[in-house]
Amino acid sequence: MTEISKVINVKYELNEIVEEAYKALRANIQFCELNKKIKTLAVTSCIPNEGKSTVAINLSICMAKAGIRVLYVDADLRKPASFKYLVSNLKGLANYLVGHVSLEEIINATDIEGFNFITCGMKPNNPGDLIASDKFGDFLFEIEKLYDIVIIDTPPMSNFIDGAIIATQTGGTIIVAEAKAVKWKTAVMMKNQLQKANANILGVVLNKISAADYKNYNGNYYYQSPKNSSNKWLIWKGKRHKHD
Ligand SMILES: Nc1ncnc2c1ncn2[C@@H]1O[C@H](COP(=O)(O)OP(=O)(O)OP(=O)(O)O)[C@@H](O)[C@H]1O
Ligand SMILES: [Mg+2]
Repeated sequence: MTEISKVINVKYELNEIVEEAYKALRANIQFCELNKKIKTLAVTSCIPNEGKSTVAINLSICMAKAGIRVLYVDADLRKPASFKYLVSNLKGLANYLVGHVSLEEIINATDIEGFNFITCGMKPNNPGDLIASDKFGDFLFEIEKLYDIVIIDTPPMSNFIDGAIIATQTGGTIIVAEAKAVKWKTAVMMKNQLQKANANILGVVLNKISAADYKNYNGNYYYQSPKNSSNKWLIWKGKRHKHD
């Protein structure tokens, strides 16, 4: 792999408790790998704002901290997360897909060892076509050779088909669901669409749970929310604890 000269500083400040939740998520994803290694992982949700990008980036960093070589790819070409959470003005996925730049030019190294990322890049006129193109499939094929895992952030499925198209081509998919935000029917429709796309759904991250509800899910075994923390909880319902 070509040496990356530029190193981006990433602000990563999770309190101990939230970090613990990500470690649990990381472990649960690894449990899903008993039969086959998951090299590409799509992170999707029903509706906007449920926490896909937050979960995808924090999970990527959490994996990197465990010595896994991780690439985070912002494949939401419509509403980029990388601009909000990482950096702006970098050439990224869209630049590569329209054929302007090489793979090496869009990969960014960071001060967190093992954590690289690709932003969405330029704002394209035809984001859906780019994600559906053969070039995106070729991109995944090439990029997964370079990392232990590639984590792909996607647009919400209620708005766009991109998430299903990406999930078709990845080894696993996780669904981020904001607690009390999505109707059961909508969630089932999304699950059906992913299954039609032959996605390997590993499980659901239930995000933004209030401390009180978290206690209900976990009985007496729960952590006190830190004072002044805006963080809510996240928990995992995966293949090993199937709730159909
Ligand atoms: N567990 C959490 N506790 C508190 N706030 C959270 C949590 N998870 C995400 N958020 C906040 O919710 C907002 C939306 O998060 P994020 O951008 O990750 O969602 P998204 O699903 O990627 O949105 P979009 O559909 O627009 O891409 C952000 O302000 C983020 O900081
Ligand atoms: Mg997002």
